[in-house]
Amino acid sequence: MTQKQINIVAFAGSTRKDSFNKKLVKIAAAGAQNAGANVTYIDLKDYPLPLFDEDLEKEIGYPENAEKLKEIFTPAHALLIASPEYNSGYSAVLKNTIDWLSRPSLENEKPLSAFAGKFASIMATSPGALGGLRGLYQLRELLQNIQVTVLPNMRAIGQAHAAFDKDGNLTDQKQQTAVQQLGTQTVNAIH
Ligand code: FNR
Repeated sequence: MTQKQINIVAFAGSTRKDSFNKKLVKIAAAGAQNAGANVTYIDLKDYPLPLFDEDLEKEIGYPENAEKLKEIFTPAHALLIASPEYNSGYSAVLKNTIDWLSRPSLENEKPLSAFAGKFASIMATSPGALGGLRGLYQLRELLQNIQVTVLPNMRAIGQAHAAFDKDGNLTDQKQQTAVQQLGTQTVNAIH
């Protein structure tokens, strides 16, 4: 019997060069890859988008970068997302990306084609003690409302500035394994 090819998109809700959340999501991505998935890692810095505005949308149409992201997201079975926490919420760049991708770019496009029916695992890290946990509850709610099944396990890693080694792995082996398992659980949910 041939195994189903599982496609996963992994990204952080940060465009910062040395983002801790980029490091974190790469650990989960490696877990998913080891479990047999085809993982596409993207950096939102490579897909800059204007702030969503319906007037602008009418004026300029669908931005090329949103189109490119939609082409990556639509065939994926699942998303791995690490979001920074700003003022107790997930990041604006993440929300803006989701808002653009939630819009139809083609006539007759199925609603929420970039999201509906997918699975997601979510995670966060921050220099604070809670590691971005508060933003994750909001992100979970948003994703569920756009028809994404968010898996129950999630991880928020505090003290981010001291948590990673020079290769981008978590120095605490238990945390490292737990984040890798977010990737594995995502693959297992799809099978
Ligand atoms: C923060 N940061 C932060 N951290 C946190 O745990 N809870 C919070 O509410 C906030 N709020 C906040 C607001 C603003 C305006 C900034 C600039 C920062 C700290 C934040 O988590 C930290 O900068 C992370 O390193 C950002 O994530 P990346 O870019 O490292 O992935």
